[in-house]
Amino acid sequence: MLLRNPLAAALTYPYGVDRYSELIDALSVRDEIRARVTDVWHQTRRSVTFVLSPNARWSGMRAGQYINLSVEIDGVRLTRPYSPCCSERRARDQLELTVSTHPFGRVSRYLREQLRPGMVLTLSEPQGDFTLPAALPDQIVLVSGGSGITPALALLRTLCERRYDGQLAFISYARSPAYALYRAELAELERSNPNLTVARGYTRGRGGRLEGRFCPAHMRAVLPALRSPQCFVCGPPALIAAVQDACRRMGLAPPRCESFAALGRPRAEGEHRHRALRATITLRRSGRELRARSMPLLEQLEDAGLRPPFGCRMGICNTCATRKRAGVVRNIVTGARSGSEEELVRLCVSAPEGDLELDL
Ligand SMILES: Cc1cc2nc3c(=O)[nH]c(=O)nc-3n(C[C@H](O)[C@H](O)[C@H](O)COP(=O)(O)OP(=O)(O)OC[C@H]3O[C@@H](n4cnc5c(N)ncnc54)[C@H](O)[C@@H]3O)c2cc1C
Ligand code: FES
Repeated sequence: MLLRNPLAAALTYPYGVDRYSELIDALSVRDEIRARVTDVWHQTRRSVTFVLSPNARWSGMRAGQYINLSVEIDGVRLTRPYSPCCSERRARDQLELTVSTHPFGRVSRYLREQLRPGMVLTLSEPQGDFTLPAALPDQIVLVSGGSGITPALALLRTLCERRYDGQLAFISYARSPAYALYRAELAELERSNPNLTVARGYTRGRGGRLEGRFCPAHMRAVLPALRSPQCFVCGPPALIAAVQDACRRMGLAPPRCESFAALGRPRAEGEHRHRALRATITLRRSGRELRARSMPLLEQLEDAGLRPPFGCRMGICNTCATRKRAGVVRNIVTGARSGSEEELVRLCVSAPEGDLELDL
């Protein structure tokens, strides 16, 4: 209350109340969702699991959604989307995240190597629609591969907490047992929920209940009496495509999909990737001009030595949104052309169609 007082605002001008209050408590800012790391552990050599306790700005999320997490590395703020894997109920005041490292990944390796209890991170509001429907079907199949286990686990934990009494199957792929996440907890959930079948598959190792990569036989193995299940899949593009194909061939409803990596650019875009246009990209604030090419603006700017912020690089997290002052861009995923008026464009999925002016 005291912090909202106009007198406090006047006394702290020009920096604002938050600049001073965060010196006392880094979570006390009013304009950002911040969270303190309360626990960190390593399930595998290539992952880190941690728990965040968010400040009062956080108001919970639906299972399966993601948040944009920001960290400061060498003085630069980097943002990436991550899907908390806790149940909806626990996510009201605690978020559990599991991040798998990329060999050259900046944020995932920082989190694996540097994260310690007590550190404070910044989060966005939750986003995404990889969530449970209001009316639950009587069969649900959750399929995941690698780090894609996180939103699937959030859905599973939520269903178990709600005492979902339909038939539930959880299929999870990893390279080998050494990379398999949440092994003990999944075994325990299966033991305590008679309606749940958990099946693991190892694509480069032995010992799983399922052999090889996903195929319709894996679905029948976990749900022998297939009626009309709702499938959810999160993982690499090839797994998503395989589940979509299986559902089509088995006459089932299309699966709900979440991908952590771009599902592939349209062919035409790849073909014209480096095609130079007779056009210029003008960067208003830095006063630079670049020769425009028919490829995502983010990549062209990076090629020119600029480092615009990015998160997902696939058009979903909005981290790269930048004001276009003039010109037309094409969305490389949908093919839609923008108008020529001023608006925000996502650099990672926008390719110029002619002269362009950006607020950079
Ligand atoms: C909705 C959503 C939810 C997600 N949830 C999770 C989750 O729960 N757990 C999880 O582990 N991950 C999750 N991810 C993935 C996560 O957001 C990051 O992509 C991942 O952690 C890698 O980030 P990084 O900074 O470590 O890697 P980056 O530094 O971004 O690099 C990632 C890869 O891209 C390559 N790369 C980087 N820059 C370029 C460039 N300029 N040109 C070409 N290639 C480049 C790198 O070599 C590397 O292999 C999610 C992604 C999305 C979209
Ligand atoms: S980086 Fe996520 S929308 Fe562009």
